[in-house]
Amino acid sequence: MRKDAPVSHRPSVVIILAAGEGTRMKSATPKVLHTIAGRSLLGHVVEAAAATEPEHLMVVVGHGRDQVVAHLAEIAPWVLTVVQEEQHGTGHAVRIALADLAARGADLGGGPVVVLTGDTPLLTGPTVVQLVESHAGQGAMATMLTADLEDPTGYGRIVRDADGSVIAIVEHRDATADQLEIAEINSGMYAFDAQRLTESLAAVTRQNVQGEEYLTDVIAIMRGDAQPVSATVVDDPTEILGVNDRVQLAEAGAIMRDRINVHWMVEGVTIADPGSTWIDVDVEIAADVTLAPQTVLRGPTTIETGAQIGPGTTLISCEVGADAEVRHTWAELAVIGARATVGPFTYLRPGTTLGADTKAGAYVEIKNSQIGDGAKVPHLSYVGDAEVGEGTNIGAATVVVNYDGQDKHRTVIGRDVRIGSDTMLVAPVTIGDGAYTAAGSVITDDVPPGALGVGRGKQRNIRGWVERRRAGSASAEAARAAGDASDRVSPNDDQEV
Ligand code: UD1
Ligand code: MG
Repeated sequence: MRKDAPVSHRPSVVIILAAGEGTRMKSATPKVLHTIAGRSLLGHVVEAAAATEPEHLMVVVGHGRDQVVAHLAEIAPWVLTVVQEEQHGTGHAVRIALADLAARGADLGGGPVVVLTGDTPLLTGPTVVQLVESHAGQGAMATMLTADLEDPTGYGRIVRDADGSVIAIVEHRDATADQLEIAEINSGMYAFDAQRLTESLAAVTRQNVQGEEYLTDVIAIMRGDAQPVSATVVDDPTEILGVNDRVQLAEAGAIMRDRINVHWMVEGVTIADPGSTWIDVDVEIAADVTLAPQTVLRGPTTIETGAQIGPGTTLISCEVGADAEVRHTWAELAVIGARATVGPFTYLRPGTTLGADTKAGAYVEIKNSQIGDGAKVPHLSYVGDAEVGEGTNIGAATVVVNYDGQDKHRTVIGRDVRIGSDTMLVAPVTIGDGAYTAAGSVITDDVPPGALGVGRGKQRNIRGWVERRRAGSASAEAARAAGDASDRVSPNDDQEV
């Protein structure tokens, strides 16, 4: 969904730091694998980094490395990883990454080395491109991405001299009272000249409050060597927000939600209640789609023009055709055809395909089934492992009995069939084109085209039963008041018992 600027200074490598423990998440899942908008925190940073088209992208892993490495292999198999066994600070992490790249024979003589962190999911591609372009434009040996924050607590402060050039970054915990007043902070994202970075890192010590190798110390080291150091201020300070706990995870998620919703509204999508509408990054929506409150669109869901989704609807990896209406529905891996109407209170499970002009109505569950164009499943039904032909109507409360307790079986229903209400279709079974089934039938054998399948006991009426067996009851009184009905004999009348 992002349109990134063309890159004129490709980094030789982007290094993403993600070895930290993320203790404050209190989670069995590594921090960078928590998700917002359907993508991991790390996945968002990889996406932003990829906008610069780097020669290499390397993620420094440590805590939860097996999960992180497996995740990267799935979402971005081209990404390199290096293990930082013990976390001795951001400078140490970058030093290990550079050593690993050298051991792999990577040539870092080209573009800059960019350093990002894995827990800043709101960073965008254009901002990383801005960092790289600014670095090249200034001819700097180090360029940091900074932000002016109302509350800079916890961040490293950017110390500038009288003419405004950057002198150093001072960590919050190492800062003087005066330095704590500085609102410009270090985002933890930088572009470096590879050679100068390697040299400067060799001079970094662990002489600080945390006993760590601070990557930030290379700024003062370079300045000491009279190397040009620069900074570029991010336009939108939310881009550099880090996620350290679940409160910040929710805050980042809400900012991402708002960004995505604004994007789609600008593209011509009506979103009635953006605060309750959650759209994943991989969703595609055409203009003139309407999303009612509490709509959640997840995975690679696509929605064609004119469709109306919600309220109260969750679609996971679904395709919705033009002008379809989907109300109060939960659907996953389902295809909803053009002009189909779904809901309210409908559950579409994986493998469901609803053709054009179909209906799946209230309290209907459909799984692994193809519903032909114009066919209807209007009320209270279960359809599983079935094929339903065009123009067929499935009566209320029909159940496709697809499971015999051990195996699933398939049901084939032809075109323009009328399945009577409350039919049990015991699979495997085939209903021919144009056939009917009688309401309440249990259909265990195939019904030929055009036949009426009847599978139920014949009705019998036992006359006078209530007055004999329920004497004195309200029903018996009502029956008595209705009078002798002997002149209204039915063919179903049974002998008295
Ligand atoms: C760092 C910066 C600070 C900046 C802030 C922005 C330093 C010394 N300070 O501080 O100036 O304002 O980021 O958020 O760099 N990591 C590793 N290995 C390590 C240590 C850290 O991979 O040995 C990773 C962490 O997982 C994290 C990132 O590096 O993703 C930043 O480390 P963290 O300890 O959070 O640094 P801060 O104290 O936030
Ligand atoms: Mg941090």
